[in-house]
Amino acid sequence: MSRLATDRDVTPLEASASARSWSVFPAGSNGEFNLPRELSIVIARGEGCRLWDTEGREFLDFSLGWGSVLVGHADPRITAAVVRQAPLGSNFAYVTENSLRLAEELVRLSPACDRVRFCASGTEATMYCQRLARAASGRMKILKFEGAYHGANEIGVTSLFGAKLKDWPQPEPLGDGIAAIVEPHVLVAPFNDLATTGRILAENAQELAAVIVEPLHRCLPPQPGFLAGLRKLCDDHGVLLIFDEVVTGFRMAYAGAQEYYGVVPDLVAYGKALGGGYSIGAFGGRIDIMELVAESRLNRDKYVWTASTLGGNPISSAAALATLEVLRGPNVYPRLHMLGAYLRDGMTRVLRELSVPAQVIGDGPLAQIAFATGPLASSRDIWRGDSASGRAMMLALFARGVFLNPLGTKLYISLAHDEAICDEFLNRLRDALVELKQA
Ligand SMILES: Cc1ncc(COP(=O)(O)O)c(C=O)c1O
Repeated sequence: MSRLATDRDVTPLEASASARSWSVFPAGSNGEFNLPRELSIVIARGEGCRLWDTEGREFLDFSLGWGSVLVGHADPRITAAVVRQAPLGSNFAYVTENSLRLAEELVRLSPACDRVRFCASGTEATMYCQRLARAASGRMKILKFEGAYHGANEIGVTSLFGAKLKDWPQPEPLGDGIAAIVEPHVLVAPFNDLATTGRILAENAQELAAVIVEPLHRCLPPQPGFLAGLRKLCDDHGVLLIFDEVVTGFRMAYAGAQEYYGVVPDLVAYGKALGGGYSIGAFGGRIDIMELVAESRLNRDKYVWTASTLGGNPISSAAALATLEVLRGPNVYPRLHMLGAYLRDGMTRVLRELSVPAQVIGDGPLAQIAFATGPLASSRDIWRGDSASGRAMMLALFARGVFLNPLGTKLYISLAHDEAICDEFLNRLRDALVELKQA
């Protein structure tokens, strides 16, 4: 029978929305949530730091569109900017007044960016940074840190979970279909370990295009001097430094990790918070590297192809301009940092109260509970802990109306959160941990 004639067995509309989602999405979702069937939901709407599912159940949102909605859901200032732009056209795949103003603001605020280009996601942004580094240097290898996520591109997911814990600098391809691309071209080092990273750089400098780093490695802060030391190692060995600021950008400070940690890379990737929840990615850097994308170079040496149908579209750019205006407002970053510290302190208190062998990590408006004891400097230190308890806690929180990603384990805070919401979260955390202790 031809495919067109197939009458697929789609779950009828009378069934629950979550049952229907399992009949059309692998694992019932569009991403890596990995929720058990009985917990999966379908979201109807969000407002501020809350969302509601199609059954009318309310959740406190500590995922925030994986951190893309830093201002809070459906903020009227962002919505108004989108509504103003919508009747004027949604995409021209060319420079608009909005994308021009946004590019000007990025070049103004980001110490690394002489020039920028837009794309539609963080995955694209880090991919272009890697490609630019290879073209500029004429070298093929990229060094990343074990456990870092730079998006769904081949390098971005390498050694993300460290199931095999290989010796440095061997990469561990994540999943099938990418080993032949990753194994010869990716080197992996432990975060916060300058000695091992320096040794790998010294041994591979002739073939190494760049080091790519999440300045806040997932939720693990860089130790004092680590990022500056990395900058120096890259300079000493003639290797480019890429900051993946998809999470840290506009979140740790207005100028992201570059401002907050005081280190300037050669290339930088942005996404998430920049778009205020609308699809966006951006990459930028030194003029001599960024000029390699100029289309006048096509078919010449050192030309880098970039293209993104929706990149920098006027609606996402309008949302981004409105988001940045909010973020430039008074007391934004002191408040985000205060709330992050409030949440982390509260989580630590609850863990101590219940004698749970776990600790809280994070910085700025980000927090994570790691079920591990001892000092935590790198992903391997966290992986040595008890990940099953971590997942059980996240699922118990989800069941108590906290929307989060049980795989990601990172909690995001928005400007719409406040101390009372954090207290509500802490009560649910206490309940969840008590239940797990009794299980
Ligand atoms: C640090 C980092 N880089 C890149 C990405 C990929 O961004 P996107 O999902 O927009 O492709 C993510 C997404 O979680 C991320 O956390």
